[in-house]
Amino acid sequence: MIFVTGGAGYIGSHTCVELLNAGHQVTVFDNFSNSQPEALRRIERITGKQLQVIEGDIRNPAELKTALQTSGAQAVIHFAGLKAVGESEQQPLRYYENNVQGTLTLLQAMQSCAVKTIVFSSSATVYGIPQFLPYTEAHPLSATNTYGQTKLTVERMLQDLYRSDATWRIGILRYFNPVGAHASGLIGEDPQGLPNNLMPFVAQVAVGRREFLNVWGNDYDTPDGTGVRDYIHVVDLALGHLAALNRLQAQPQCMTVNLGTGIGYSVLDMVRAFEQACGKPIAFQFSPRRAGDIASYCADPKLAAEHTWRWQSQNPQGYSISH
Ligand code: NAD
Ligand code: WQD
Repeated sequence: MIFVTGGAGYIGSHTCVELLNAGHQVTVFDNFSNSQPEALRRIERITGKQLQVIEGDIRNPAELKTALQTSGAQAVIHFAGLKAVGESEQQPLRYYENNVQGTLTLLQAMQSCAVKTIVFSSSATVYGIPQFLPYTEAHPLSATNTYGQTKLTVERMLQDLYRSDATWRIGILRYFNPVGAHASGLIGEDPQGLPNNLMPFVAQVAVGRREFLNVWGNDYDTPDGTGVRDYIHVVDLALGHLAALNRLQAQPQCMTVNLGTGIGYSVLDMVRAFEQACGKPIAFQFSPRRAGDIASYCADPKLAAEHTWRWQSQNPQGYSISH
């Protein structure tokens, strides 16, 4: 049984689909602060399989402990948290409470229930200002905002935990920019209010919910002057979690892995690609740079690729034939 905190959210819902498709049983634990229970019904529709759903908050130790025990959790994928960079600067304590205290409470509950496998959603934001590109996992870490600091703090907490007890199995996944939606069109990203991120904003312009996109800066040192990022499809990201679980199952460890493509695209590349996909023009205007943005970054995805290759080459038929 895989226990998925934040499983009703954007990345969590896509991961639940892939977990169910791969034959795992799944319990979603979510307080629906940034998602809808409808997403869970859609997951069941896509997969034709049932989920166990527990409404609860990772800041509540009693709720968590009961949920871990009654679900029979063997491993946790931990998506639950707050993720808006600007908001984290306005409400730092709320971010520390949800992201840091919430994760601490989760780890304590896991320890007391002897569940010692966790995959954690970290972010490329932990690399801070690029000292070299592409970012390898060994790039120095720093936070340029409160949200990033909460991710760094949790990464540190997980590493300290593993050092104290090497029977833990910990996967820290640093996501680059997740985009896209499941091919069925039944689940996707549904931000509340004004989207902070590029692709949900573009999508809302395309359907007429917003008049135009502000392109934040066209004077960066990039091929077309707009910001360049490493956009990874959310289903590929979801599959990265299954690969991480497989690797953790093989042996206890604390691993940190980038999940990106290694290829950078500009804001205008993304707008043009979306125009082609939806067959409509996307209105945009150039606006001043957004505070805190950097010109360009992308992942070095070699480690994730090597892990996948090592797993698949040593287990060509997956678990069905042991050697
Ligand atoms: P999301 O907001 O769509 O999903 C988060 C889910 O967690 C939501 O369903 C929300 O209701 C739930 N949640 C929040 N606080 C909770 C709490 N205290 N208790 C229980 N449930 C709670 O976000 P997402 O884009 O799916 O991101 C998932 C994770 O990945 C987050 O930890 C985020 O920081 C991280 N991440 C996201 C991105 C991105 O660009 N989307 C990039 C890097 C890392
Ligand atoms: C992408 C590009 C913008 C909106 C953020 C977090 C990061 C991670 C992923 C969680 C940039 C431009 C955007 C708009 C625009 N999240 N843009 N107009 O800032 O790379 O990363 O999400 O961990 O931590 O910082 O993503 O989608 O906001 O921006 O021109 O309306 O699109 O300037 O170049 P970002 P984004």
